[in-house]
Amino acid sequence: MGHTDRQDATHAQLVLEMLLESGPDYASGEALSGKLGLSRTAVWKVVNALRDRGYSIEAVPSRGYRLVQVPDRLTALEILPLLETADLGRTVHAFDSLPSTSELAFRLAAEGAEHGELVVAETQTAGRGRRGRSWASPAGKNLYASLVLRPELPPQRAPELTLLAAVSVAEALGGEGVDPTIKWPNDLQVAGKKIAGILTELSAESDRVHFVVLGIGVNLNAAPSDFPPDVAALATSVLRVLGRRVDRAAFVARLMKLLERWMQVHQSEGFGPVRARWRALSGTLGLEVLVKSERRELRGVAEDIDDDGALLLRTDAGVERVLAGDVEQVRPRVRPGH
Ligand code: BTN
Repeated sequence: MGHTDRQDATHAQLVLEMLLESGPDYASGEALSGKLGLSRTAVWKVVNALRDRGYSIEAVPSRGYRLVQVPDRLTALEILPLLETADLGRTVHAFDSLPSTSELAFRLAAEGAEHGELVVAETQTAGRGRRGRSWASPAGKNLYASLVLRPELPPQRAPELTLLAAVSVAEALGGEGVDPTIKWPNDLQVAGKKIAGILTELSAESDRVHFVVLGIGVNLNAAPSDFPPDVAALATSVLRVLGRRVDRAAFVARLMKLLERWMQVHQSEGFGPVRARWRALSGTLGLEVLVKSERRELRGVAEDIDDDGALLLRTDAGVERVLAGDVEQVRPRVRPGH
């Protein structure tokens, strides 16, 4: 029986996992071949295949193999060994370039992709933002990811997932040492500049969600000069905030874990805990804002979010529930005599 590409990929995965487990120590060729059920020569071939893919692996005859450097690339090979989830991200569809990860994820989901399948790309040529905007996607620097979800949720409750995602992305960034605030409903900002955005797309009937595609863009290692000038003025990145680069694969793994955990909490306890966490991370509540939606503009104080994620805005005419829109902070008016 000849071996297949799939087997090669699995072997590469397993060798990589063992090398990662050994950390700074050597993994002996014998241990590797024993664990994988491969000859020493076959192990050596797998190691060389990994080297061809940009992994730097040291080989010392009496000791074995040691992983020196991992390439900065987002494919299953980099993500899977770091993943600590049951479902999310367990299948990775990785591309150098796509029009939009969400567009592909939507198509895969319509064709039957399972809960948790993840689409990532190094760059997007037609990255989609909320409300018909585009999403700047410089190559090889950031995270562009779309996740297929099949939640058991009536369609009216789907917005809760958007807020849940915002909380998860904020916490994943928190793990890097960046503390963003959430601008309702799901923009993540640092010092008033955007560091991440979330786009939720839905396929549903009146009483049932078929699937949700959660599109997540996070500015990780982009410098201001990587963005077009108009975007650069409004965007920031982890690199810009902290002055250091992020391990993108580790970031994806952490994000998947947080999303899975929050989805479990949401499933068992409802929206309450998500809402409480969202409020704690919010940079919108308490501010005087202008909310622009397709149909209207409303000005008022952002008082709270409702138990379904809607924004509660205190206007001159009373409290309004806002389901969708863009929030702009209005500078507090200077009162006479001050
Ligand atoms: C926003 O406007 O704030 C939402 C931006 C969402 C961007 C991400 S990047 C990965 C995924 N694919 C897309 O085309 N859009 C989302």
